[in-house]
Amino acid sequence: MKPTDYINEWVNRITPYSPGKTIDGMTKLASNENSYGPSPKVIAGLREKIPEVFRYPHKNLHVKEKLSEYCRVKPENIVLSNGSDEMIELIIKAFKGPIASIYPSFVSYPIYAQIYNREYISSSLNQDFSFDHRKFIKDAWKANLMFLCSPNNPTGKVIDVADIEEVAQTGKIVVVDEAYFEFYGTTAKHLLLQYPNVIIMRTMAKAFGLAGLRMGYAIADPELAEALKKVRGPFTTNYLAQEATILALKDLDYMKKSVSRIITDRKAIEKRLAEKYKITPSYTNFILADVSPMSSKEFFDRMLEQKIVVRPQPKFNGFEGNYVRITVGTSEENFLLLDALSKV
Ligand SMILES: Cc1ncc(COP(=O)(O)O)c(C=O)c1O
Repeated sequence: MKPTDYINEWVNRITPYSPGKTIDGMTKLASNENSYGPSPKVIAGLREKIPEVFRYPHKNLHVKEKLSEYCRVKPENIVLSNGSDEMIELIIKAFKGPIASIYPSFVSYPIYAQIYNREYISSSLNQDFSFDHRKFIKDAWKANLMFLCSPNNPTGKVIDVADIEEVAQTGKIVVVDEAYFEFYGTTAKHLLLQYPNVIIMRTMAKAFGLAGLRMGYAIADPELAEALKKVRGPFTTNYLAQEATILALKDLDYMKKSVSRIITDRKAIEKRLAEKYKITPSYTNFILADVSPMSSKEFFDRMLEQKIVVRPQPKFNGFEGNYVRITVGTSEENFLLLDALSKV
């Protein structure tokens, strides 16, 4: 046997995640980061903590306490992860498949399903990217684990909590990915009171501007939370991420101000985009636009000529249109974006 013959055969079938491009000297509006970054108090506080990086991360309990105050739940409802991306992995490790989700949606669900060799059911959204709970429940009847992303990446649309509740009534594990919660302001968290099979997933990467430090969390029934902790390595959230999360949660005003600026600018960009392209009104910090008759790649290249990096989307199977996803940046970046759009 050759060394490569020992690779699990399903590993050869994995399509790896391809991140938005970061190019020096260009404005990156490709990965739904918050370009305002974290509160200056987070940066100042982290500087003081750097000499302590020789210690293993040990602030999990403190982080959970602070997150439980922010989410108004108990600390035993919170599980931490190395970005919410790792939470997707923990959930898939801990719970039985098959797995189901909507399409198009966040690409990490099918990728982790492939990594763990789980059957994956992809249920297409309506043509306008809205969600039909009856269709989803029918398509996903075999699944034991379901991911519903709301607001949804890459569409920016939301799923009504009443529709999520219909899915929760199946009794299967229903994960609501609320990575963009702070930009929307509505949560399905209260469903946990009645449906212990619901898990809410959140992140510090988006509204709080901490994508580079990796801190995600789940809000779950304590028994499910325990199961998630069992499949996690002992030190997956790092020390600086823990400190940054504690500091960021102390300055919610900063986060709220940057979110509200992003929402105001998003509306202005949506208006401008809608003059030329078909857009999907967004509840997030990004906008999905159908740039037809241009191809996604052509639009991406033309924006690149203007030194703006956006995210071309692959052709969505079963959907018309050529899509690109554009992150709303700082006001300064958004001016550059609007200027570039007028030249494309
Ligand atoms: C819907 C959704 N869930 C999860 C994530 C992963 O976020 P994190 O940076 O916390 O891993 C993203 C990141 O783009 C996302 O869009």
